[in-house]
Amino acid sequence: MAFETITSETKGAVTLITLNRPDALNALNTTVLNELQQAFAAFEADDSQHCAVVTGSGEKAFAAGADIKEMVDKQAADFFLEDFFSGWNEMTAKTRKPWIAAVNGFALGGGCELAMMADFIIASENAKFGQPEIKLGVAPGMGGSQRLTRAVGKSKAMDLCLTGRMMDAAEAERAGLVARIVPHDQLMDEAMSAAEAIASMPPMAAMVNKELVDAAFETTLAQGLTHERRLFQILTATQDKSEGMSAFVEKRAANWKGR
Ligand code: CAA
Repeated sequence: MAFETITSETKGAVTLITLNRPDALNALNTTVLNELQQAFAAFEADDSQHCAVVTGSGEKAFAAGADIKEMVDKQAADFFLEDFFSGWNEMTAKTRKPWIAAVNGFALGGGCELAMMADFIIASENAKFGQPEIKLGVAPGMGGSQRLTRAVGKSKAMDLCLTGRMMDAAEAERAGLVARIVPHDQLMDEAMSAAEAIASMPPMAAMVNKELVDAAFETTLAQGLTHERRLFQILTATQDKSEGMSAFVEKRAANWKGR
């Protein structure tokens, strides 16, 4: 698929999507959103694809936020009538397959928010995270106040949102925002091998695992435990459950059917 602001390529069972506006530090404008929506829809629809990785092009940034130059002259009514930023939530909600953010540099504002939409974040040791919208007279608009607070707790989320400061990869990992940190030159190898490991799992089980962890943010413990048991029980009806358990007992590699 040919795009203007991103690239999307398949590598085996993994789709690699790269934000590609390095001169603007991969700032997220409406074209980026439209193209990401198309790339994610194609990933979701392609039965050969089982995990995606999103990263940024260039040495400096994953994404330095929503495109300030696109927003500077817009009026409040424009943002409201367009329901500006709502497309990001729609894209995330429609993506049932797992995807990883490989954060290679600045992940600020919408860039941090996009990374937090991923199922998990693998960061280069050069990565920097922040929600600096307050310095522009606004607040996060793509989920930062909600997802960051759930990821790192109230105190650090308040610190980052109210001061607009950045945190480095080590602080982000200590805070629980980041799953792994790797040397900068190993980021893509690490992210692609994590994605390949996920892509080699039975795909329905991968989708259910994702759904269940996400549900932990939405439900009470009792509802979440029931939801978990029900989906566990449903998965036991799949061919891949029979195959996975038989393969273990027979000490052989499983041959997944995806059903
Ligand atoms: N939007 C549009 N353009 C951006 C951008 C953004 N968010 N961030 C950087 N750029 C552009 C710069 O304007 C510059 O372009 P020009 O050369 O044409 O002037 C180019 O990228 C390089 O940026 P800098 O020269 O500023 O690079 P630097 O290394 O000196 O600084 C930086 C890097 C600290 C990340 C700085 O660029 C910066 O502070 N960027 C803005 C970060 C920000 O405020 N993000 C939040 C945006 S609002 C938002 O995201 C709302 C939301 O919740 C969704």
